[in-house]
Formats: sequence, structure tokens, C-alpha cells
Amino acid sequence: MLTLQLAYMLAYMLAESTRTAWAVLERQQNQGTVQLHWPDELDTVLLAIDSEKGGVGKSSLAGGLVAVMAAAGHEVLAVDLDPRATLTAELDAVAPEGVTEMPSLNDLLHEDQGIDPSELPELRGLASQAVRPAGAHWGDRVRVLAAERALAHRESDLTTPNIEHRLALSLEGFKRQFRLVVIDLPPRAGGKLVGAGLLAATHVLFPGTLDEDGLIGVRDARKTARRVSRAHPAALRQVGVLRTIVEPRTRLAELSDRRFTEEFDDVLDVVIPKRIVRREARTACVPITTATTRDAQDLVSAYTAVLNTIAEAP
Ligand SMILES: Nc1ncnc2c1ncn2[C@@H]1O[C@H](COP(=O)(O)OP(=O)(O)O)[C@@H](O)[C@H]1O
Ligand SMILES: [Mg+2]
Repeated sequence: MLTLQLAYMLAYMLAESTRTAWAVLERQQNQGTVQLHWPDELDTVLLAIDSEKGGVGKSSLAGGLVAVMAAAGHEVLAVDLDPRATLTAELDAVAPEGVTEMPSLNDLLHEDQGIDPSELPELRGLASQAVRPAGAHWGDRVRVLAAERALAHRESDLTTPNIEHRLALSLEGFKRQFRLVVIDLPPRAGGKLVGAGLLAATHVLFPGTLDEDGLIGVRDARKTARRVSRAHPAALRQVGVLRTIVEPRTRLAELSDRRFTEEFDDVLDVVIPKRIVRREARTACVPITTATTRDAQDLVSAYTAVLNTIAEAP
């Protein structure tokens, strides 16, 4: 009897130990290069990257996913809803400030009260006029709805009706030409920009670093996503929790890792390792897929595995 119990306990402990971030990372590294499987019949995926904490690797993940999809020959759109415009900068698609002919992402989310409503442009599909190409290093398959600081004003905008529905509406029709739309959200608790991103999305992914901020960011983002999904026109699929910027094992990180797998039942079997080359690629505004080092390869494989998981999401 006792031996049976002991056997169960050992089996349980063994199963648990295969789920740690470092066990997953080791498996990823032994696998070698991962191939992208993005089925032709898959409808456009609009993926929101969501955490209510900053510094957990949201924008880096967004940039990595864009790089891998584009390198595989797919058309990609990046939507940067964070007024700090980190993703916009990495994609080298900085929006000119002030008045221009082109509408900006901020304009899509804002209704100018000074204009006669009958003169306002039709919002449906208007995103097609606000996109700009990514910088030359990114090839010609990457388009960007660029962030700018003025986006921050939308959080306190009390006059534009239905702000949260405007991004979805402006992408209607236009989104079909992309295989993947990555929506980078600001780390703002339950704000209007987060709402706009989630209502436009078909899928949501929750990245978290193995520390207190990572855990809280995921926990709070899930609450907001649950609330928003009730108002969602279709279904918002939760892909799961992704452990990011995974550092070498320490007691503290191990403890956080255990809290992730205990608290969330959809922690993914993929992790994003910490690699300095990720910062370097961002600073140089080049896609990580163009770097050839082993570290860059580790990241590309991890991003590819994330995309494969999304493509398989029920
Ligand atoms: N895989 C990684 N390896 C090393 N550094 C990373 C990695 N991912 C992100 N970083 C760094 O961590 C910091 C926060 O990442 P960022 O993507 O800006 O987070 P967020 O968008 O959640 O605020 C940045 O300095 C970024 O360069
Ligand atoms: Mg960011």
C-alpha cells in the first residue's frame, strides 16, 4: 500500500519536473530547428499579446512572431497600441507626429467632435489607409499600424463613442490580406486601448516573466480578458500563458515557475529564453531571423513553436 502511494508520488513529481521552464527549454534546445506549420486554410489570426505589467517581454515577443511569419513568406500586420511605441520603433515604422494626409492609428480610435458627422470618413476598413510599411530590413511583407504618444489621450477620451470597438471596425475587410495580425497591448490595467485590442482579436496570449510582476501581470490581464470577452462579437480564444525571458535556474525563479504552473492550468509547453541578442536586434531594428548565432536560433525556434501552438489552438 505504502509502496503504491510512493510510486504515485514519484510519478507525480516526475511529471511536474518535466513542466518546469528549464525542462521545457532543454527539450526545445534538443529539438533543433523548428519548422513553422501555418495551415493554408487557417483564417486570419488576430493575436493580442496581453499582460498588465511592463517589462515582461510583450513587445519583444510581438516583434519575434512578426519576424518569423514574414521570413516564412506570410503577410503580417503589427498593431502597436502602446503609446511608448516600442514595437513601432523596432519595426522602424515611426509615425510622423502632427497633421499629415494619412490617418494614424490614433485617428482611427478618435472621433473629431469638430467635424460634421456626415463628413466623417467611413470607419469600416479605414485601417488600410493608416498602415505604413516596416523598415527596409523587414522585407515587404510587414505592415504596421504605428503607435505615437498621442495614443495615450484615448484612455481619457470621453467624447469618442465606442472607442473599444473602433479598431475592430477599422480592420474589417482589410485584415483578410494578412495571415497574422499581432496586437501589442500597453500594460495598462483594463484601459480603453486594451479593450480595443482585445475586441479586435481572435486570440490572446499572456506572457509572463518568472517573478512577481510576471505573475501579477498575467493574473490581472486574464481578469480583464474575461470581462472583455463577454462583449466580444465572436469568440476570444485564450492560447495560454507563455513564460518569457527565462534566465538560468535560481531558487527564486524556480519558486515563481511553480506558482505559474499551480495557478494557471494553461501554461504553454514552450518558453522564451533570455538571450542578449534579442536586445541587440531590437536596438538595430532588424528582425531576429536575420541573426545567425546559436542564441538567435534558440529564439527563432521558440517563436516558431509559439506560432505552431497558436495555429493548433482549438
Ligand atoms: N528573450 C529576451 N532575452 C533578453 N532580453 C529580452 C528578451 N525579451 C525581452 N527582453 C528585454 O526585456 C525588456 C522588456 O521587454 P519588452 O518586450 O519591452 O517588454 P514589455 O513590452 O512587456 O514592456 C527589454 O529591454 C527587452 O530588450
Ligand atoms: Mg511593450
